[in-house]
Amino acid sequence: MYQPQVGDSLDVLDTPAMIVDLALMEGNIASLMKRFRARNVQVRPHLKTVKSPDLALRLLAAGAIGGCVAKVSEAEVMVEGGIEDLLITTEIVGKPKLARLVDLLQAHPLIKVVVDSVVGARELNAAVGAAGLEANVLLDLNVGQNRCGATPGAEALDLARQIGDMEHLQLIGVQGYEGHLQHIHDQQERQQRCQQAMRALTETAEHLRTAGFPIQIVTTGGTGTAEFCADFDGITEVQPGSFVFMDTDYRNALGPVYSNALTILSTVISRPSPDCVIIDAGLKSLSTDSGMAEPKGLAQIAYQPKGDEHGALSWRNENAVGELPLQIGDRVELIPSHIDTTINLHDTYYAYRDGRIEAIWPVAARGKVQ
Ligand SMILES: Cc1ncc(COP(=O)(O)O)c(C=O)c1O
Repeated sequence: MYQPQVGDSLDVLDTPAMIVDLALMEGNIASLMKRFRARNVQVRPHLKTVKSPDLALRLLAAGAIGGCVAKVSEAEVMVEGGIEDLLITTEIVGKPKLARLVDLLQAHPLIKVVVDSVVGARELNAAVGAAGLEANVLLDLNVGQNRCGATPGAEALDLARQIGDMEHLQLIGVQGYEGHLQHIHDQQERQQRCQQAMRALTETAEHLRTAGFPIQIVTTGGTGTAEFCADFDGITEVQPGSFVFMDTDYRNALGPVYSNALTILSTVISRPSPDCVIIDAGLKSLSTDSGMAEPKGLAQIAYQPKGDEHGALSWRNENAVGELPLQIGDRVELIPSHIDTTINLHDTYYAYRDGRIEAIWPVAARGKVQ
């Protein structure tokens, strides 16, 4: 089988294929970095979106101080690719995960982890202590998402005091991710609610400092809120991830702040009727948890998965009549509705400029969910 090479035209790609418009991606990264340079807040992008050390290294070259990962297995892939300053943003609980973490910490001491419970902190303390190590930890706070995180205020302070008594843990920061606000369409509402969340986060950080904890890192924010977070006094770094490629869900909420730089290239394989064609991209190529992908440049046409391997394109307006301007063999690009869950379905990025492949990157952390 022919393996696509750098320099090839996109025409050589078999489909479905995940393709990246490099000029748009570079524009997104440069634009985000510029916004935060002006604000004097560090950027620690969430690498669970890109899942690729190649892309992480590009983000570092553009000015990121390190990266976030969601899971230990993602951290394993990133350190293999040379990224050392990592924050694992999900609580690590249970012997199998702790054993993997301890292995990582032996060789990569810049990895930081979050805790939100005494039980979790005790287990972590015991595991790193048994290996003769120390771990730098951030207290994870619930700033309204109601996922993980201790309650800001007295509960957080009490937990911090107990962590402070644990010999092998160093409490160096707080994390509070306001995931529930990222896709609010009304910008004013998004900003106001983000400010409330940032107040809870920074006030708790201040209480911890007053109690004697050396809180250096106050980390938060995603693509939809990071700028509002950065404008709040006391935030030291932001964690956006989706901005690198964007998706339709974010574009619908934020408008054209960043560009949709990644698409899934597909082929029309059948034409059951003049007003419907079938493409080779279904549920295994495009996630649907945030709605349907959109055919790029075909505003009047809607996509609908037709099972694991197939998708249908038909008129968006159900009353529309007439032939679709698509024939068997045509290629169609689909803009994902949710970038993270779509990237995780693919093995390879094909990055192009002016119609030619300029880079081929494996999605090295694909499927790394442990
Ligand atoms: C803890 C944390 N930080 C940051 C992000 C980045 O968000 P986004 O990809 O929406 O920019 C996420 C995404 O879910 C997250 O879970």
